[in-house]
Amino acid sequence: DQPINISKLLSMHAEREKIAMLTAYDSTMSALLNRCGVESILIGDSLGNVIQGQSSTTPVTVEQMVYHTQCVVRANTHAFLIADLPFASYGDPIQALDSAAQLMRAGADMVKLEGGGDWQLEIIQYLVERSVPVCAHLGLLPQSIHLLGSFKVQGKTKTAAQVMHEQALACEQVGAQMVVLEAIPSSLGRQITDSVSIPTIGIGAGPDCSGQVLVLQDMLGISTGHQPKFVKNFVEGHPSIEAAIKTYVREVKSGKFPGPEHGYSG
Ligand code: KIV
Ligand code: NA
Repeated sequence: DQPINISKLLSMHAEREKIAMLTAYDSTMSALLNRCGVESILIGDSLGNVIQGQSSTTPVTVEQMVYHTQCVVRANTHAFLIADLPFASYGDPIQALDSAAQLMRAGADMVKLEGGGDWQLEIIQYLVERSVPVCAHLGLLPQSIHLLGSFKVQGKTKTAAQVMHEQALACEQVGAQMVVLEAIPSSLGRQITDSVSIPTIGIGAGPDCSGQVLVLQDMLGISTGHQPKFVKNFVEGHPSIEAAIKTYVREVKSGKFPGPEHGYSG
Protein backbone atom coordinates (compact mmCIF):
# COMPACT_ATOMS: atom_id res chain seq x y z
CA ASP A 1 0.00 0.00 0.00
CA GLN A 2 1.05 3.57 -0.76
CA PRO A 3 1.58 5.76 2.33
CA ILE A 4 -1.54 7.88 2.90
CA ASN A 5 -0.77 11.60 2.79
CA ILE A 6 -2.87 14.72 3.26
CA SER A 7 -3.57 15.09 -0.48
CA LYS A 8 -5.10 11.62 -0.50
CA LEU A 9 -7.28 12.43 2.54
CA LEU A 10 -8.43 15.74 1.00
CA SER A 11 -9.41 13.96 -2.22
CA MET A 12 -11.24 11.26 -0.24
CA HIS A 13 -13.31 14.04 1.37
CA ALA A 14 -13.97 15.61 -2.04
CA GLU A 15 -15.00 12.28 -3.53
CA ARG A 16 -17.03 11.28 -0.47
CA GLU A 17 -14.93 8.20 0.13
CA LYS A 18 -15.09 7.46 3.86
CA ILE A 19 -11.92 7.63 5.98
CA ALA A 20 -11.45 4.91 8.62
CA MET A 21 -9.48 6.13 11.64
CA LEU A 22 -8.81 4.52 15.03
CA THR A 23 -6.59 5.40 17.95
CA ALA A 24 -3.46 3.41 18.79
CA TYR A 25 -0.72 3.95 21.33
CA ASP A 26 1.70 1.08 20.75
CA SER A 27 3.53 -0.83 18.06
CA THR A 28 1.54 -4.07 18.07
CA MET A 29 -1.75 -2.31 17.49
CA SER A 30 -0.17 0.06 14.97
CA ALA A 31 0.94 -2.93 12.89
CA LEU A 32 -2.48 -4.56 13.21
CA LEU A 33 -4.40 -1.41 12.22
CA ASN A 34 -2.16 -1.04 9.17
CA ARG A 35 -2.84 -4.65 8.17
CA CYS A 36 -6.59 -4.13 8.59
CA GLY A 37 -6.76 -1.17 6.20
CA VAL A 38 -7.15 1.67 8.70
CA GLU A 39 -6.19 4.82 6.76
CA SER A 40 -5.29 7.04 9.67
CA ILE A 41 -4.17 6.41 13.23
CA LEU A 42 -4.72 8.93 16.01
CA ILE A 43 -2.23 8.82 18.86
CA GLY A 44 -4.85 10.37 21.13
CA ASP A 45 -4.37 11.84 24.57
CA SER A 46 -7.17 9.40 25.43
CA LEU A 47 -4.12 7.31 26.35
CA GLY A 48 -4.42 9.13 29.68
CA ASN A 49 -7.62 7.18 30.25
CA VAL A 50 -7.05 3.87 28.50
CA ILE A 51 -3.29 3.38 29.04
CA GLN A 52 -2.56 5.31 32.22
CA GLY A 53 -5.85 4.79 34.08
CA GLN A 54 -6.32 8.51 34.73
CA SER A 55 -9.86 9.86 35.09
CA SER A 56 -9.24 12.51 32.39
CA THR A 57 -6.77 13.41 29.65
CA THR A 58 -5.42 16.46 31.49
CA PRO A 59 -2.44 14.77 33.22
CA VAL A 60 -0.93 13.68 29.87
CA THR A 61 2.37 15.37 28.96
CA VAL A 62 4.12 16.12 25.66
CA GLU A 63 6.90 13.72 26.68
CA GLN A 64 4.37 10.89 27.05
CA MET A 65 2.76 11.76 23.70
CA VAL A 66 6.22 11.64 22.09
CA TYR A 67 6.90 8.20 23.58
CA HIS A 68 3.61 6.73 22.33
CA THR A 69 3.98 8.41 18.94
CA GLN A 70 7.41 6.79 18.57
CA CYS A 71 5.91 3.39 19.49
CA VAL A 72 3.20 3.71 16.83
CA VAL A 73 5.60 5.09 14.20
CA ARG A 74 7.94 2.08 14.43
CA ALA A 75 5.30 -0.31 13.11
CA ASN A 76 3.49 2.09 10.80
CA THR A 77 3.63 1.08 7.16
CA HIS A 78 1.26 3.49 5.46
CA ALA A 79 -1.38 5.02 7.77
CA PHE A 80 -1.52 8.81 8.23
CA LEU A 81 -0.46 9.58 11.81
CA ILE A 82 -2.05 12.34 13.89
CA ALA A 83 -0.73 13.03 17.40
CA ASP A 84 -2.62 15.02 20.04
CA LEU A 85 -1.13 18.13 21.57
CA PRO A 86 -1.97 17.45 25.22
CA PHE A 87 -3.59 19.76 27.79
CA ALA A 88 -1.80 23.08 28.32
CA SER A 89 0.92 22.32 25.75
CA TYR A 90 -0.27 24.96 23.26
CA GLY A 91 -1.15 27.94 25.45
CA ASP A 92 0.76 30.40 23.27
CA PRO A 93 2.31 30.19 19.80
CA ILE A 94 5.90 29.63 20.99
CA GLN A 95 4.91 26.82 23.34
CA ALA A 96 2.63 25.30 20.70
CA LEU A 97 5.41 25.24 18.09
CA ASP A 98 7.83 23.66 20.57
CA SER A 99 5.28 20.98 21.56
CA ALA A 100 4.24 20.33 17.96
CA ALA A 101 7.87 20.09 16.84
CA GLN A 102 8.47 17.34 19.39
CA LEU A 103 5.52 15.35 18.04
CA MET A 104 6.59 15.91 14.42
CA ARG A 105 10.17 14.86 15.22
CA ALA A 106 8.72 11.71 16.81
CA GLY A 107 7.14 10.92 13.44
CA ALA A 108 3.64 12.41 13.48
CA ASP A 109 2.28 13.61 10.13
CA MET A 110 -0.08 16.12 11.79
CA VAL A 111 -0.91 17.41 15.26
CA LYS A 112 -4.35 17.93 16.76
CA LEU A 113 -5.54 20.56 19.22
CA GLU A 114 -8.89 21.21 20.88
CA GLY A 115 -11.17 24.18 20.27
CA GLY A 116 -11.95 26.74 17.59
CA GLY A 117 -12.00 30.02 19.52
CA ASP A 118 -9.95 33.08 18.62
CA TRP A 119 -6.85 31.97 20.50
CA GLN A 120 -6.89 28.47 18.97
CA LEU A 121 -7.29 30.00 15.48
CA GLU A 122 -4.18 32.09 16.13
CA ILE A 123 -2.26 28.96 17.19
CA ILE A 124 -3.46 26.96 14.17
CA GLN A 125 -2.40 29.72 11.77
CA TYR A 126 0.97 30.12 13.52
CA LEU A 127 1.69 26.38 13.28
CA VAL A 128 0.54 25.96 9.68
CA GLU A 129 2.60 28.97 8.54
CA ARG A 130 5.58 27.16 10.07
CA SER A 131 4.73 23.96 8.18
CA VAL A 132 3.11 22.01 11.00
CA PRO A 133 -0.08 20.38 9.66
CA VAL A 134 -2.99 20.81 12.06
CA CYS A 135 -6.21 18.93 12.76
CA ALA A 136 -8.78 20.92 14.75
CA HIS A 137 -11.18 19.30 17.24
CA LEU A 138 -14.63 20.81 17.87
CA GLY A 139 -17.70 19.81 19.87
CA LEU A 140 -17.01 17.96 23.09
CA LEU A 141 -13.49 18.87 24.23
CA PRO A 142 -12.19 16.34 26.77
CA GLN A 143 -9.32 18.63 27.84
CA SER A 144 -11.97 21.07 29.12
CA ILE A 145 -13.65 18.54 31.41
CA HIS A 146 -12.78 20.47 34.56
CA LEU A 147 -14.48 23.52 33.08
CA LEU A 148 -17.51 21.57 31.83
CA GLY A 149 -18.11 19.44 34.93
CA SER A 150 -19.37 16.51 32.89
CA PHE A 151 -19.40 15.32 29.30
CA LYS A 152 -22.48 16.31 27.34
CA VAL A 153 -23.50 16.62 23.73
CA GLN A 154 -22.41 19.98 22.28
CA GLY A 155 -24.00 22.26 19.66
CA LYS A 156 -27.60 21.39 20.53
CA THR A 157 -29.03 24.92 20.51
CA LYS A 158 -29.34 26.89 17.30
CA THR A 159 -26.83 29.46 18.54
CA ALA A 160 -24.29 26.86 19.69
CA ALA A 161 -24.61 25.02 16.37
CA GLN A 162 -24.06 28.25 14.44
CA VAL A 163 -21.00 29.17 16.52
CA MET A 164 -19.48 25.71 15.94
CA HIS A 165 -20.23 25.83 12.23
CA GLU A 166 -18.48 29.21 11.99
CA GLN A 167 -15.53 27.89 14.00
CA ALA A 168 -15.14 24.95 11.60
CA LEU A 169 -15.05 27.33 8.63
CA ALA A 170 -12.59 29.58 10.48
CA CYS A 171 -10.32 26.60 11.29
CA GLU A 172 -10.19 25.75 7.60
CA GLN A 173 -9.64 29.41 6.74
CA VAL A 174 -6.52 29.66 8.96
CA GLY A 175 -5.09 26.45 7.51
CA ALA A 176 -6.36 23.44 9.46
CA GLN A 177 -6.46 20.48 7.05
CA MET A 178 -8.77 18.24 9.03
CA VAL A 179 -11.28 18.56 11.86
CA VAL A 180 -12.53 16.06 14.44
CA LEU A 181 -16.17 16.57 15.47
CA GLU A 182 -17.06 14.97 18.82
CA ALA A 183 -20.52 14.42 20.33
CA ILE A 184 -22.67 16.80 18.29
CA PRO A 185 -26.06 16.37 16.59
CA SER A 186 -25.87 14.34 13.37
CA SER A 187 -27.51 17.21 11.48
CA LEU A 188 -24.70 19.58 12.51
CA GLY A 189 -22.08 16.98 11.53
CA ARG A 190 -23.64 16.87 8.07
CA GLN A 191 -23.91 20.67 7.71
CA ILE A 192 -20.27 21.21 8.66
CA THR A 193 -19.05 18.39 6.40
CA ASP A 194 -21.01 19.79 3.46
CA SER A 195 -19.60 23.29 3.85
CA VAL A 196 -15.87 22.67 4.37
CA SER A 197 -13.34 21.31 1.88
CA ILE A 198 -11.27 19.52 4.54
CA PRO A 199 -12.14 16.08 5.93
CA THR A 200 -14.37 15.96 9.02
CA ILE A 201 -13.74 12.97 11.27
CA GLY A 202 -16.72 12.17 13.45
CA ILE A 203 -16.97 10.54 16.85
CA GLY A 204 -20.60 10.81 17.82
CA ALA A 205 -21.22 13.30 14.97
CA GLY A 206 -23.48 11.21 12.75
CA PRO A 207 -23.04 9.20 9.56
CA ASP A 208 -22.31 12.06 7.16
CA CYS A 209 -18.80 13.03 8.27
CA SER A 210 -15.92 12.35 5.87
CA GLY A 211 -14.62 9.69 8.23
CA GLN A 212 -15.01 8.14 11.65
CA VAL A 213 -12.76 7.58 14.65
CA LEU A 214 -13.21 5.59 17.86
CA VAL A 215 -10.94 4.92 20.80
CA LEU A 216 -9.50 1.47 20.10
CA GLN A 217 -10.21 0.02 23.55
CA ASP A 218 -13.82 1.27 23.32
CA MET A 219 -14.51 -0.45 20.00
CA LEU A 220 -12.81 -3.60 21.31
CA GLY A 221 -15.24 -3.57 24.25
CA ILE A 222 -12.49 -3.58 26.89
CA SER A 223 -12.76 -0.04 28.27
CA THR A 224 -14.04 0.27 31.81
CA GLY A 225 -16.67 2.74 32.98
CA HIS A 226 -19.46 4.50 31.16
CA GLN A 227 -19.50 4.12 27.38
CA PRO A 228 -21.05 6.92 25.31
CA LYS A 229 -23.81 5.93 22.88
CA PHE A 230 -21.54 6.50 19.85
CA VAL A 231 -19.38 3.52 20.85
CA LYS A 232 -19.98 0.18 19.18
CA ASN A 233 -18.33 -3.02 20.39
CA PHE A 234 -16.97 -4.59 17.20
CA VAL A 235 -15.54 -7.67 18.93
CA GLU A 236 -19.02 -9.05 19.60
CA GLY A 237 -19.60 -11.88 17.16
CA HIS A 238 -16.02 -11.90 15.91
CA PRO A 239 -13.39 -14.62 16.41
CA SER A 240 -10.43 -12.24 16.71
CA ILE A 241 -9.42 -8.62 17.23
CA GLU A 242 -8.22 -8.57 13.63
CA ALA A 243 -11.65 -9.63 12.35
CA ALA A 244 -13.31 -6.97 14.53
CA ILE A 245 -11.08 -4.19 13.20
CA LYS A 246 -11.61 -5.32 9.61
CA THR A 247 -15.37 -5.13 10.19
CA TYR A 248 -14.98 -1.61 11.62
CA VAL A 249 -13.09 -0.54 8.48
CA ARG A 250 -15.67 -2.18 6.21
CA GLU A 251 -18.63 -0.63 8.08
CA VAL A 252 -17.08 2.85 8.08
CA LYS A 253 -16.23 2.61 4.37
CA SER A 254 -19.74 1.39 3.47
CA GLY A 255 -21.53 3.87 5.75
CA LYS A 256 -23.07 1.12 7.90
CA PHE A 257 -21.30 2.52 10.97
CA PRO A 258 -22.34 4.76 12.63
CA GLY A 259 -26.00 3.83 12.60
CA PRO A 260 -28.84 6.07 13.82
CA GLU A 261 -28.56 4.54 17.30
CA HIS A 262 -25.00 5.91 17.61
CA GLY A 263 -26.03 9.50 16.82
CA TYR A 264 -27.50 12.51 18.63
CA SER A 265 -30.50 14.54 17.54
CA GLY A 266 -30.44 18.34 17.48
O1 KIV B 1 -7.73 11.35 22.28
C1 KIV B 1 -8.53 10.82 21.49
O2 KIV B 1 -8.65 9.60 21.38
C2 KIV B 1 -9.36 11.70 20.68
C3 KIV B 1 -10.49 11.08 19.92
C4 KIV B 1 -11.56 10.71 20.87
C5 KIV B 1 -10.99 11.97 18.84
O3 KIV B 1 -9.12 12.89 20.64
NA1 NA C 1 -7.75 13.61 22.25
